[in-house]
This record gives sequence, C-alpha cells and structure tokens, in this order.
Amino acid sequence: MDETKILLPESQIPTHWYNVVSDLPAPPSPVLHPGTKKPVTPQDMLPLFPPGLLEQEMSAERWIKIPDEVREIYRLWRPSPLYRARRLERALGTPAKIYYKYEGVSPAGSHKPNTAVPQAYYNKIAGTRRIATETGAGQWGSSIALACKMFGLECTVYMVRVSFGQKPYRKSMMQLWGAKVLASPSDQTNAGRSILARDPASQGSLGIAISEAVEDAATHEDTRYALGSVLNHVCLHQTVIGLEAREQLKIAGDYPDVVIGCHGGGSNFAGIAFPFVADKAAGKAVRIMAVEPTSCPTLTKGVYAFDYGDTAQMAPIAKMYTLGHDFMPPGIHAGGLRYHGAAPLVSLLAHHKVIEAKAVGQLACFEAAVQFAGTEGIIPAPESSHAIRAAVDEALQAKAEGKPRTILFNLSGHGHVDMAAYDDYFAGRLEDFEYPAAKVQESLKHLPQVAL
Ligand SMILES: Cc1ncc(COP(=O)(O)O)c(C=O)c1O
Repeated sequence: MDETKILLPESQIPTHWYNVVSDLPAPPSPVLHPGTKKPVTPQDMLPLFPPGLLEQEMSAERWIKIPDEVREIYRLWRPSPLYRARRLERALGTPAKIYYKYEGVSPAGSHKPNTAVPQAYYNKIAGTRRIATETGAGQWGSSIALACKMFGLECTVYMVRVSFGQKPYRKSMMQLWGAKVLASPSDQTNAGRSILARDPASQGSLGIAISEAVEDAATHEDTRYALGSVLNHVCLHQTVIGLEAREQLKIAGDYPDVVIGCHGGGSNFAGIAFPFVADKAAGKAVRIMAVEPTSCPTLTKGVYAFDYGDTAQMAPIAKMYTLGHDFMPPGIHAGGLRYHGAAPLVSLLAHHKVIEAKAVGQLACFEAAVQFAGTEGIIPAPESSHAIRAAVDEALQAKAEGKPRTILFNLSGHGHVDMAAYDDYFAGRLEDFEYPAAKVQESLKHLPQVAL
C-alpha cells in the first residue's frame, strides 16, 4: 500500500454519529443551571437549543442516525481525505508512519461545518428563524453562517473584538454567507454594555462573546443559540472525522499507536479521538493525546471542577477542566484555542486518564507548521499546528528510540485566512507565553459554589 491520499467514496460517509457517553469510565456529571445551581432540565434549555439537539446533548445511545438532509450537505466535502505524510516522514528521517486527516477541505476551511450543518438543520425543523452565536478566530462564525445560509436561517455572530480587527477576511466570509457580524463586547446586549462600561477598550474574549450570544437568544422568541465546541452534541457531530479515519486506516492496513488532536474547546479532538476511545474501552492499546497552547493550558494546568461556560455567568455550569470563567487569555495567534474551559466529555476522559494532554509553545508550533507546509504543501491553521508539533515530536522520539510508531493526527483546518499570524512569526513578533500558575489560582477563587 503506497497511496498518499486514502479516499473513501461518498457512500461511505458515516450513517451514524458515535456517542462516547456509552463508553465512559464513569457517568457524566449533571449540567447545572447558572441561577439555581440545580441540574438543568430540557425545559430550561429549550429557549436556547432546539429539541433535536437537546435530545442528543442528554443521550446515552451509542449510535445516533445522521439525518439524510445533513448527509446530503456533508457530501460537498466528506469523506475528507486521510493522507500519509511521506514527505514529512522523509524530512524528519523517522521510522514512524505519520497519517493526517484533513478537515481543511470543507467550504469554510475547517472541521466546524461538521457540526454547523446539523445544528442549523435541527433549528430549521424546530421553526427557529435566527441563530445567535459567538466566534473567536472566525472559523466557527463562518461555518455557522454557511450552514444558516443553506437552511434559510438568519445568523448574528458576536466576534471577539481582537479578531474582528485582525481577521477582516473571516468577517467577509460570514457576510458573504449572509450573517450579521458584531464586534464583541458590543453595545447590543446588557452583557456587552456592562463590560464596555468597565473597560471601554476591552478586546473581548470568547467567554464575553458567549454571554452576548446567549443573552440575544434568551431575549428573542424566534432566536436560538449555537455553540461551535464544548457541548456533547458538538463533540458527537465531529465523530465523523474519527469514524472515517478508522476506515481509511483499515484500507492502509494500519492502526495508530497514538491519536493526536489540538484542543481549544475540544470538538476536533473529540472528533478524531472518540471512535478510538471506543476501541480503547474494548481493550485496544492506543494512546490518545490532546494538545493545547502553554498560554491557555486548560487541561494541563486547570482544575477539574464545576464552572460557568461564560464570563457573565449566564451559561450553564458544567464539570470540566477550567482556568476560571474570568480567565483573560493572552493574545496568542491560535485564537481558536483560547477558551477557559474544555468539553465535559473530554475533561472526564482526561480526569480518568483515558486520554493524555500536552501543552506546547506557539513558536515551536509555527516552526512545525512551516516544516509541514514545506513538505506536505498544505498551510495549516495556527490551531492545527499544535497537533502537528506533537505529531512531529512523537516521530522524533520514535527516531531517537530507533523504533517504528504509527501516528494519526487531525489537521483541523487550513491557514489561508491566518497569514497575518505567519507574517508575525517570520518578522519575529511572536513570543512564547506560559500562563502563570498564580493567575490560574486567582481565577479559580471565583468558581461557583455548588452542592455536588
Ligand atoms: C482550525 C481550528 N482548529 C481547532 C480549533 C479549536 O476548537 P476545538 O477545540 O473545538 O476543535 C479551532 C477553533 O476555532 C479552529 O478554527
């Protein structure tokens, strides 16, 4: 088998999403209402999410059918290719085999449409007229804008102010697909206005933008909220990545020793990893690794505790690894990896050591991204470069040990709209940043007190 691209026909787009809840080492903790601090009921969540998504959020069914309308749109880019990175392997002189699943082939350029499309679909059939959401770097905003367009929904995107300035073309993409884009904090919501009153120059954060979008949805009858990561149903939708990769590796006659994904809120990592968590639960030996930036070290330096999903304490409280909901991330270039929390499902697996986590500095990530672009050709999104760094480190370790190793990583998106970050890297304007342990301790003082 000497293929470079391992492709599946459209008929092999998965028919079902895989729900990892059926294979967890412990039951998931309840999600709590931010006001009462009691477990949320579906009734509490209905103003924010349509019934189809709420059902998935709470489901323990192992397999959940993908609606035909969603599969039909998935056909525009799925199944995505699995590549064998032969040229990178040769450059590294490693005995390791490196495979990567490439999600940059979607129309928006990342894995995010895998969940944007079903989220728009379930909203459409529930009669939602408009979706309100937030976006950090703009990858999620552009994906949900695309999905809303396809199902005839309106879309309002609260975009973290620093990215609104730095990523004008992501904003243009959202507008091209019909969305209204506001810089967050904005003067359109109470949450935004109160932040601006305290700090008129606020550059925003994902936590603040989430507060604004949730408030918008909660205060408008015809509007619901959508989140591009973290939630169970988002992780569920992304499992098409790992399900396809497993089939593609079968064609290659291989099975990974280690599966790697970058980690922001956890969705692309969940997508590549969860089907392999199922294998691990069934006794297979496989390491599964989430890679995050040293500047936002949620899994490696955070605590496993109940915390709010947003800054203004309007979103539900979930048990997860967190740096504290008032964590203000330093302005690293991988904007999509700047969230204070982590998916509760990923957190539970990390807490029980089913998966491992590693933090890497941004300079080492750009170095790996440039080597990758120079060998494999594809220019990676800065977020995805964290997975490349870890994959390269695994390959170099295999070389040092003189032993073979099969590495699979998820290349979650391309970096065509992130070239300013590469310019900064080449101009020497980027530095590494270790988020100080003392600051983490400070933020953790503000965790909600819950009775569980
Ligand atoms: C290309 C890319 N990869 C990864 C991420 C991180 O998000 P998640 O951890 O949900 O996959 C983002 C977020 O915007 C992204 O745009």
